[in-house]
Amino acid sequence: MKVYAGIDLGTSGVKLLLMDEEGRVLRSVRREYGLSFPNPGWSEQDPEDWYDNTIEGLKELISDIEPASLTGIGIAGQMHGLVILDENDEVIRPAILWNDGRTQEETRYLNEEIGQERLAKLTGNIAFAGFTAPKILWVYKNEPDLFARISKIMLPKDYLVYRLTGDFTGDYSDASGMLLLDVKDKKWSSEMLDICHITEDMLPKLHESSSVAGLVKDDILSVTGLTGPVSVVCGAGDNAAAAVGTGTAGPGKCNISLGTSGTVFITADSYQVLPNNALHFFAHADTGYHIMGCMLSAASCNKWWMDDILKDKDYQASQSDMTDLGTNTVFFLPYLMGERSPHNDPKVRSMFIGMSMDTTRTQMTQAVLEGVAYGIRDSVEIARSLGISITETCICGGGARSEVWRKIISNVLNVKVKTLINDEGPALGAAILAAVGTGAYKDVISAADHIVKYGEVICPDPDVVSRYDKGYDIYRKLYPSIKGLYV
Ligand code: XUL
Repeated sequence: MKVYAGIDLGTSGVKLLLMDEEGRVLRSVRREYGLSFPNPGWSEQDPEDWYDNTIEGLKELISDIEPASLTGIGIAGQMHGLVILDENDEVIRPAILWNDGRTQEETRYLNEEIGQERLAKLTGNIAFAGFTAPKILWVYKNEPDLFARISKIMLPKDYLVYRLTGDFTGDYSDASGMLLLDVKDKKWSSEMLDICHITEDMLPKLHESSSVAGLVKDDILSVTGLTGPVSVVCGAGDNAAAAVGTGTAGPGKCNISLGTSGTVFITADSYQVLPNNALHFFAHADTGYHIMGCMLSAASCNKWWMDDILKDKDYQASQSDMTDLGTNTVFFLPYLMGERSPHNDPKVRSMFIGMSMDTTRTQMTQAVLEGVAYGIRDSVEIARSLGISITETCICGGGARSEVWRKIISNVLNVKVKTLINDEGPALGAAILAAVGTGAYKDVISAADHIVKYGEVICPDPDVVSRYDKGYDIYRKLYPSIKGLYV
């Protein structure tokens, strides 16, 4: 029997799973690591933590299988993070993550001085504070000594692939989020590299997500107890991998991910130029493309509210009496780390509004879940304004485990929400990429069709939808009225 490992290098931890050729998940392992916020709005991690936890996780994952059966590994990773290595392959500084908002000035420079039109022509996208190019410019300006030492620039999952195989590779889906890739022609944009003062030899060689990057190195085989040969595929950004893991491959499909971030991911078979570029246009791991809106804090809003503020671990109990959907007069703006889509505003912060003397704790908790759903609707409305019809979506991520949150999403967006039998998100997608890359399936679309199984479908209720439409009318007026309060 052949088995495949899917690794999801996330923001709060790494998840690893083992999948057989039929797509059955045999085992999964999770290991948490820390996140540091060295300044307000900054967000960093030590790549060594990613590596150590992945190796420990891999040992545990394969502890009771025949080691020779592990045929392929696929890695999905948090996108946009900047990892820089010197000529000795030493990490130069902690990785600057996707939800780090320090690059306001560099983002302004790119959008206003280089110009959004030119950026869109070169990359298919405009600059957002979390993207990699503004981070490179930040290091150039603020840490010139470190910048001078840069020999390699890579994304988080590409760092893991490099450590496991010694091959310096990347894939198109993740590379799209660097703002260095000509997404249309799937090649590095030499003009963007010039703008960022870097050269192509500092960047990985790019391939499709299911292409084999290399083989696991001998020293890692012996540390983990593997026998090899084990192929590692190039992998994908976590959203593209999550989409594969929810069967969102091939044109005309949608997936919503409620993880630390919240994303809406819409597949497309050909390159498009999006008016205003308020949503991202990236390559997909299925060899096509996708449109994506990303909110920086989604399930993390509820985690913050429950763990840090209420100090209550019983998420389910706190949601058990949320019955009157669409009648809440309390609103929550989910901007704990600023916001990406659609506001591109790293400085804005969260707020509750609409409380009165009889407001309950449940209403406030519900407002948090609803605020995230309204934030996702902001991106969905932009997609709809481009003529894209979204009537059905898959849902994945930690937040998707909440039944009431799934119902809120369905009614706020007025879409059918398909739940998954095997809700394993990016790790399953990454394992599917490994199975395709090592020959078990002919392509990503047919592999996902064969492997992903759906369960319950939640249908929106017209009365609740119309109540939430009224709520959204209030919600969408709130950001413009607080914009600029925090500078
Ligand atoms: C997408 C994004 C986030 C991270 C989370 O653009 O920044 O969804 O990939 O890991």
